[in-house]
Amino acid sequence: MTKTRAKTVSKTKGRAGRGTLKAADGVIAITVNVNGRDLAMRVTPGEFLLDALRREGFKGVKKGCDNGDCGTCTILLDGKPALSCMLFAAQAHGRRVVTIEGLGTPDRPHPIQAAFVEAGAVQCGFCIPGMVLATKALLDEDPDPDEGAARRALDGNLCRCTGYVKQVEAVLLSAKKVKQAARKGGRP
Ligand code: FES
Ligand code: FES
Repeated sequence: MTKTRAKTVSKTKGRAGRGTLKAADGVIAITVNVNGRDLAMRVTPGEFLLDALRREGFKGVKKGCDNGDCGTCTILLDGKPALSCMLFAAQAHGRRVVTIEGLGTPDRPHPIQAAFVEAGAVQCGFCIPGMVLATKALLDEDPDPDEGAARRALDGNLCRCTGYVKQVEAVLLSAKKVKQAARKGGRP
């Protein structure tokens, strides 16, 4: 998981090679693909991606420790789990971000979200967006994880409510549900 806070934005390049970003009047114009849609954002050089996403309404990206320790701010950045509190917003320019809002809705939950509910893994829910996205990243790489892989996938995601047992069960149940959905021709 991306965890080191970068010191400058001067090296930031978009995925499409858009070059070094420049700040005008202390503001940088960036475009980030968030949940499948290109989103134009104006950010400051020191603004973190977590804060920019929340300002844009993606409140499922939770601000826990704001220090790279808890995993509640986890997003997928170009398909990999990353801590949005440890990235400058400008570092996401030209890249793909997925937040929990991009996975499912209460009416039509993603199989991973359904698995977390069915497994009884959700108490207050604050840590769950990060855990669900960590699970998504795991299953995208390993559709049939064992318990050890499930535990490793969640090892950067802290929960103050549970003992993690149900959440590991939820990851394993997620694998089954994702495969079932794929067999039915639904989304992965
Ligand atoms: S808020 Fe980012 S790791 Fe805790
Ligand atoms: S369910 Fe409350 S912090 Fe995890």
